[in-house]
Amino acid sequence: MSKKSSKKAVEVELTPLEAKAEMERLGELIAHHDKLYHQKDAPEISDGDYDALRQSFKKLAEAFPHLVPAQNPEKTVGAAPLSGFNKVKHRVPMLSLGNAFGDDDVEDFIKRVLRFLNLKHDNMATSDPIECVAEPKIDGLSASLFYENGVFTQGATRGDGETGEDITQNLSTIKDIPKKLSGKFPATVEIRGEVYMERGDFLKMNEKQIAEGKPAFANPRNAAAGSLRQLDPSITAVRPLKFFAYALGYSDSRVANTQMELLKRIEGWGFTINNEVKLYEHSDELIDYHQRIEAKRSTLPYDLDGVVYKINDFDLQERLGFVSRSPRWAIAHKFSAEEAETTLNDIIIQVGRTGALTPVAELEPVNVGGVMVSRATLHNEDEIQRKDIRVGDRVIIRRAGDVIPQIVSVKLDARPKTGKAYVFPDTCPVCQSPAIRPEGEAVRRCTGGFTCEAQAIERLIHFASRDALDIEGLGEQSLRDFWDEKLIKTPADIFTLEARDKDKALEKRPLEEREGWGAKSVQKLFDAINAKRSIPLDRFIFALGIRQIGETTAKLLARNYGSWKNLNAQMREAENHESTAYRDFTALDGIGKAMADDLIGFFADAHNQKVISDLLTEVTVEDFVRVASAETALTGKTIVFTGTLHGMGRNEAKAKAEKLGAHVAGSVSSKTDYVVVGADAGSKADKARALGVTVLDEAAWLKLAGL
Ligand code: IVH
Repeated sequence: MSKKSSKKAVEVELTPLEAKAEMERLGELIAHHDKLYHQKDAPEISDGDYDALRQSFKKLAEAFPHLVPAQNPEKTVGAAPLSGFNKVKHRVPMLSLGNAFGDDDVEDFIKRVLRFLNLKHDNMATSDPIECVAEPKIDGLSASLFYENGVFTQGATRGDGETGEDITQNLSTIKDIPKKLSGKFPATVEIRGEVYMERGDFLKMNEKQIAEGKPAFANPRNAAAGSLRQLDPSITAVRPLKFFAYALGYSDSRVANTQMELLKRIEGWGFTINNEVKLYEHSDELIDYHQRIEAKRSTLPYDLDGVVYKINDFDLQERLGFVSRSPRWAIAHKFSAEEAETTLNDIIIQVGRTGALTPVAELEPVNVGGVMVSRATLHNEDEIQRKDIRVGDRVIIRRAGDVIPQIVSVKLDARPKTGKAYVFPDTCPVCQSPAIRPEGEAVRRCTGGFTCEAQAIERLIHFASRDALDIEGLGEQSLRDFWDEKLIKTPADIFTLEARDKDKALEKRPLEEREGWGAKSVQKLFDAINAKRSIPLDRFIFALGIRQIGETTAKLLARNYGSWKNLNAQMREAENHESTAYRDFTALDGIGKAMADDLIGFFADAHNQKVISDLLTEVTVEDFVRVASAETALTGKTIVFTGTLHGMGRNEAKAKAEKLGAHVAGSVSSKTDYVVVGADAGSKADKARALGVTVLDEAAWLKLAGL
């Protein structure tokens, strides 16, 4: 009888050396099956067989405790994949905050708010007062907590802001999170806040990790993230996590009129509120708060990456609303960055999705404020020249929050004699096409277009990415692998992958036989791809990765052109700058000349047209549907504002018109329905009259908007 076929026999017969080898073998095997089970959802052995492996290991470990290998399955818990959690769609999106880095940015923020609300804003000291709440910005992870009739029923991560992951069980283990609310509360209410770990607890936990031979976490935030992401809540339960509540997500009744009132109320329900929160009556006090908290930073038990200012009054917050993914009524004021000195080992050139050649510094790894940094951005060729950065130099690195590290300066006195000035390449390092830099631009670009591998693959990665098509399981690494194997070269190839994989005539090795894949994971990928065969117009436009076209512009185009067919036709017509199509296009608010040229150029390119028409044989682009809000007098109308309005700022008027379903344009054209004329209006009013467009004064506008 062979030793390995009988586990009972193994234990009695093994010598210490054999036992050690056997434990190593079992340790590796268990780790392999953990990975198949947890990360790939593709187990190859039954649960019973898996338990038997663990049992064998356990017995050997008990008999030979001094020989237990580092890969000890009793200590490790299958690296918890995020895919192990159910998805939760947030009732109200979880947005992020805009950033202010300097005092000027804060001043701009306040001025923007006051201008929007039509309050006096020319000078900080003499501007109208506006109540603001200042809070520490805790460096943790945001979480959403749902309560039904006062009972905690669901907790989720932020995820991409629209959809997060259900981590109810893990959040339930955190003491600061009440399982039942106290006092009077709405029947359905969602509280938001930050899960974090105190620095002292983090250090203690890391010591324990190291003593157990497990990897240490880089900082308290990573430790908190790793702890929340455990599939086994009993592990989260022993991690020292805490929670500060700072916002209301959804509520079926009004809870408070101001942020300060809200914090008091939720504190009464049993939540912990940060005790550094302060209310200010005038915005000119905010910068003092920032300085005070920054000075106190190292004495606070938790990590902060800045402070947050919020307009206190909820009615004003409502009026201010959102722009893109951030509220107009709040901003994060970051702390000044952390710096460190290191050596610049090399300068490499990356080629991005739009062909931009970006120099990247490869550094001798260095710890900057708790994070190991080995790369920094060099922005562009002028930046290298301006700072005279040379390979081999000693350089000062700065890292501010989650911003990519930068080189601040070079230590010229420490420069090696051999240091040579850096010469920026004028050909693409990937496809060798000429890389040109148009006059007046900072960026040099590869002219290879889709024939440049770097650009083509970056576009594919963007196409499948979370904010674009969001094809689960088709992340950057898988796409690079498929690219190398020539399985996916264009977006259409993604959608023909399944058919090609199943076509025996091609005599290709099926995907499931490839390293790291199994039948289950391959099917999961195909399902994820097939789920994206119908794509909303705005996502489709954004996914194409056209230069300068971000999510906001993609939405603007979708809203204005309605269908892919129409957009394509109009963009082809707009190649002629004399056409109505061109005039209407450039009259859209938010479309500048450079952007217009890029977009028209994209549609004019034969290769792009071919890639898209191939793609359209596989997918359907959904026409843009307006969110089913009630029809208003402004639904579908194009409106232009000109001159000074007295009742509300111009931006608020625009936001209001958009909320009511109108398109706001920057200039008057034949397609304009209304021109709202304030005081001192100039040529736009004359042009409107000449074109016979309806002209409204401020009173008529307010009436039309139902105000
Ligand atoms: S308010 C609409 N308050 O910062 C945004 N956020 O970039 C509402 N954060 O995801 C967020 N401390 O994780 C707010 N006192 C605080 C915060 C805070 C930390 C985090 C949060 C959010 C991110 C925003």
